[in-house]
Amino acid sequence: MKRYACLLVLLLGSPVALAGGKVPYPDGYRHWTHVKSMVILPGHPLADPFEGIHHVYANAKALEGLRSGRYADGSVLVFDLLETMRGAHALTEGKRKLVGVMVRDARKYRDTGGWGFEGFAGDSHDKRLTHDGGRACFQCHQSQEARGYVFSQWRK
Ligand code: HEC
Repeated sequence: MKRYACLLVLLLGSPVALAGGKVPYPDGYRHWTHVKSMVILPGHPLADPFEGIHHVYANAKALEGLRSGRYADGSVLVFDLLETMRGAHALTEGKRKLVGVMVRDARKYRDTGGWGFEGFAGDSHDKRLTHDGGRACFQCHQSQEARGYVFSQWRK
């Protein structure tokens, strides 16, 4: 009986593996390199769902990619989105809305340009926001094909 249970796990597990596998939560990204920030206000085409203040972070491999235009496997980019608080003639950071992640593995995520896309709700490390293997994310990022599907650019 036990053997069949194992087989069942293997069979049920395989479609996930074929679809690219789960993107891991980017532990420690707040210690990575800050690439850029942007405030998206209501009315902006990206306001739903990206209204707020976001910061983009890159790990060492992704930083190399931003400079060269070629991303090695293991590159990770993070889109850290916080609520915008208005008051006293200033915009300040509020609660975290989501953490968007792009992780590079050319083979594993070949269906989405070699990037695994995932969003994590709020401060959670496990409340995943994509249910389509990151295809909707990729569709929009596809416009940046010439730059490895990455919008952000490195500045000094
Ligand atoms: C409708 C278009 C659109 C969709 C859909 C979209 N993005 Fe993006 N994404 C952008 C834009 C534009 C930027 C650049 C923002 C900036 O310049 O600060 C960006 C930036 C990023 C970055 C930082 C690296 C880069 O390319 O600049 C990550 C990581 C990211 N998105 C992840 C995701 C994930 C994960 C999803 C799906 C859950 C997603 N995106 C869906 C437009 C989109």
